[in-house]
Amino acid sequence: MNKVDIVVNEAKKLLKENPFDVGHDLSHHTMVWRLAKRITKNIDEKIDMDALKTACLWHDVVVTKLPTKDVLLKTKMTDDSLEYLVVLLKKYKFSKEFINKVVIAKKYHHFDEKPRSVEGKILWDADKLGVLGLNRWQRFIQAEKNGKIPKSFVSYYASTFKEKYLKTMRNRLHFKYSKILHDEMILRLIKSKEGRATAKRFSWDLKSALPK
Ligand SMILES: [Fe+2]
Repeated sequence: MNKVDIVVNEAKKLLKENPFDVGHDLSHHTMVWRLAKRITKNIDEKIDMDALKTACLWHDVVVTKLPTKDVLLKTKMTDDSLEYLVVLLKKYKFSKEFINKVVIAKKYHHFDEKPRSVEGKILWDADKLGVLGLNRWQRFIQAEKNGKIPKSFVSYYASTFKEKYLKTMRNRLHFKYSKILHDEMILRLIKSKEGRATAKRFSWDLKSALPK
């Protein structure tokens, strides 16, 4: 096994044992990596695919096992995995340049951040586009029904989606192809019965996110 796979497998293990929540679990990370690969195939830039894969699979990993119901505090907790990841990358003797690429991409992937590298821009776009996947919303709704996550989590995510993602995300995507994917994914939600029901439940105006 090559050392990138060893480091990626460590992320997968942590994501199975201690996911941030149902929307930031292993399936979210693999979806982000899938979307990132689609973006890379459709842009004309030099990309370090190993650094991108590592950043995609580690971006929302949490290492600290502090149970908290405060979603904002949990968001801060994803930053603790950055130090852990750097130690791991040093252990496997990755170059300083490689470690820097992964750190810069992961560190600035949050919605309100501006990514500072091409790998960071791809991760930012893939992660935000991940919000348009219906399965993820269904996992949230199911977890709420089963009492696995507090009601405030789902309503927090749903209103953030409405106020931030639907209104500003498309403009902030970094590549033309990311915008194509965005429109395709919004249309898929609109065309699906479950997508329309989810939009109705959270009062989302999905069409408003499409270009006029
Ligand atoms: Fe994410």
